[in-house]
Amino acid sequence: WTATRDKSCKLPMPKGSMGFPIIGETCHWFFQGAGFHASRRQKYGNVFKTHLLGRPLIRVTGAENVRKVLMGEHSLVTVDWPQSTSTLLGPNSLANSIGDIHRKRRKIFAKVFSHEALESYLPKIQQVIQETLRVWSSNPDPINVYRESQRLSFHMALRVLLGFRVSEEEMHCLFRTFQDFVENVFSLPIDLPFSGYRKGIRARDSLQKSIEKAIREKPLHTQGKDYTDALDVLLESAKENNTELMMQELKESTIELIFAAFATTASASTSLIMQLLRHPAVLEKLREELRSCGLLHDGCLCQGELRLDSIISLKYLDCMIKEVLRLFAPVSGGYRIATQTFELDGVQVPKGWSVMYSIRDTHDTSAVFKDVEAFDPDRFSPERNEDREGRFHYLPFGGGVRSCLGKQLATLFLKLLAVELAGGSRFELATRTFPRLISVPVVHPTDGLRVKFFGLD
Ligand code: HEM
Repeated sequence: WTATRDKSCKLPMPKGSMGFPIIGETCHWFFQGAGFHASRRQKYGNVFKTHLLGRPLIRVTGAENVRKVLMGEHSLVTVDWPQSTSTLLGPNSLANSIGDIHRKRRKIFAKVFSHEALESYLPKIQQVIQETLRVWSSNPDPINVYRESQRLSFHMALRVLLGFRVSEEEMHCLFRTFQDFVENVFSLPIDLPFSGYRKGIRARDSLQKSIEKAIREKPLHTQGKDYTDALDVLLESAKENNTELMMQELKESTIELIFAAFATTASASTSLIMQLLRHPAVLEKLREELRSCGLLHDGCLCQGELRLDSIISLKYLDCMIKEVLRLFAPVSGGYRIATQTFELDGVQVPKGWSVMYSIRDTHDTSAVFKDVEAFDPDRFSPERNEDREGRFHYLPFGGGVRSCLGKQLATLFLKLLAVELAGGSRFELATRTFPRLISVPVVHPTDGLRVKFFGLD
């Protein structure tokens, strides 16, 4: 590609600085973190140019600009993953699919996250969360919430998506391998012994081997609607769409789903716990809601079967999870590449440039949210409904044809975690002050958030 302006277009280039030769502004970005984008946005406006990780980039903030990018998928822009990510996720992943193939794959996946499928996953998710909270509470020491939430979301993904029931030791081993994979998904694509890229490939091959073994040994339940995990649903959905998923596709798809769920859900779980600690009045209001609908009685959660519809009917819980995802959107934005020159905010985005649409900055600068920095779940209540102005002001799960496929699953998971925390746990911050947050690769506290869990009195 060429990273120069499109001379046939009369519009000016976005303002901004390209930094030093080759490295551009990568070092500034690395050291300044989230402050990097905020400072440049203040200086240059909502659409500015920079040079990060070896490539020129146009960073885009603001609901209307983001709408144009996201709705322009397949016409103005397309996906643009670094080479290491594309190779490690594989040619059959959604990340690497475009056009009709992407549409067809999403259609097959849609059933995996349908209401009916979620209902069948619910008891398993609840069980994984309860087991985890029991372990946290029995630990005499404070928990590193972010690290343990990563383990929790990985465990949830193995059980719910793949139906794996593995021993603690196997789980530990798979988790270590998966961490090696995740740490090297964004690495320089240099395939040499000891390079991060080679480490990532080795981790991917090892994960694929374990997944293939488990798939071959696993009884599949694709008869009727009595699914036991997402893999069953995926196979049935493929059949309904007259597609046979080959083993390689299955392996790549499952690794991609776990990858997409892992850090994002762990980040959101940590932010949720942090906000419940910071705002006891919010926790009390949630408990009040659980009491009023009979889910919490005498300080204990009623352990009867929890239905998806009862969870969905909890309005305050819904507002609270939405607010956590607004203020602490785990993913800061998404990468695309311009397939033709187009206009944004009166400047040109030339063909061939990378474009990053921003989620967190868009939330932080949106005029539709009153007192934008306050944690205020009621802003999403039916009376106030601050996000009614349009969906691109609030987009923790992205938008358009590449919006998050696991949105409903992630939301259900977070709601169940909040219910268990409100109903069955006592927990206290184990440090004097709340930690600082960093936003790369997903938003998380610098010290992981140290919390002591006590369980029920
Ligand atoms: C895509 C956020 C959980 C599966 C995305 C995107 C965002 C996002 C912002 C769009 C990225 C882009 O535009 O490039 C989140 C957040 C989560 C979460 C904040 C948790 C709180 C999950 C879970 C799964 C999942 C649990 C699956 C089990 C996916 C997939 C895509 C995606 C497959 C790619 C869709 C495509 O390319 O068509 N997610 N996600 N996500 N997410 Fe999530």
